Amino acid sequence: MAHSPLENDIEHVLLTEEALGQRLDEIARQIETDYADKDLLIVGVLKGALMVVADLSRRLAIPLTMDWMAVSSYGSGTKSSGVVRILKDLDADLLDRHVLVVEDIIDSGLTLSWLVANLRSRGPASVEIATMLRKPDAAKVDVDVRYVGFDIPNEFVVGYGLDYDERYRNLPYVGTLKPSVYGGDQ
Ligand code: XMP
Ligand code: MG
Repeated sequence: MAHSPLENDIEHVLLTEEALGQRLDEIARQIETDYADKDLLIVGVLKGALMVVADLSRRLAIPLTMDWMAVSSYGSGTKSSGVVRILKDLDADLLDRHVLVVEDIIDSGLTLSWLVANLRSRGPASVEIATMLRKPDAAKVDVDVRYVGFDIPNEFVVGYGLDYDERYRNLPYVGTLKPSVYGGDQ
């Protein structure tokens, strides 16, 4: 099978486009039930969650609004620093709103626990979390994640919004990179 220049860098596919879509269908049905009579505000965490928000929100047949926040915890490396900065804050006022934070991935959980505490301080009616992917270390941090797409092994993954050095976000699936891409032997 012919590979595109982008796909050439992928070692293996962890989650196909179909698998991601099917899981989002299931999560969307849960969210529709849970927020049937609530005024839902989806908060997407840029940039990684852009695909999840786009695909999840299109599956939700309930009224909602969307807003975006950008935080930084990683720089260009692959390890969490624990230092979180707000790069772009919300436009919406959270007072009395039912907030659903949508994330691409929870790794150490440091980013999210900081973010949830920050959002809770703004007087919302509720704050829940949905994440497409969750790594094993996330269990060490005390954040309650209401909706999880997939628990994945402790490997660095790209695609479906997730980047390595800002690339690979546009892959429609989730996969791992060949070691050579990390500046190894090329
Ligand atoms: P923590 O460790 O604070 O980090 O939960 C969450 C953020 O780190 C990024 N991250 C990744 N990005 N592949 C990526 O492209 C990964 O495997 C990965 N693990 C963590 C991501 O920005 C996430 O929001
Ligand atoms: Mg992210």
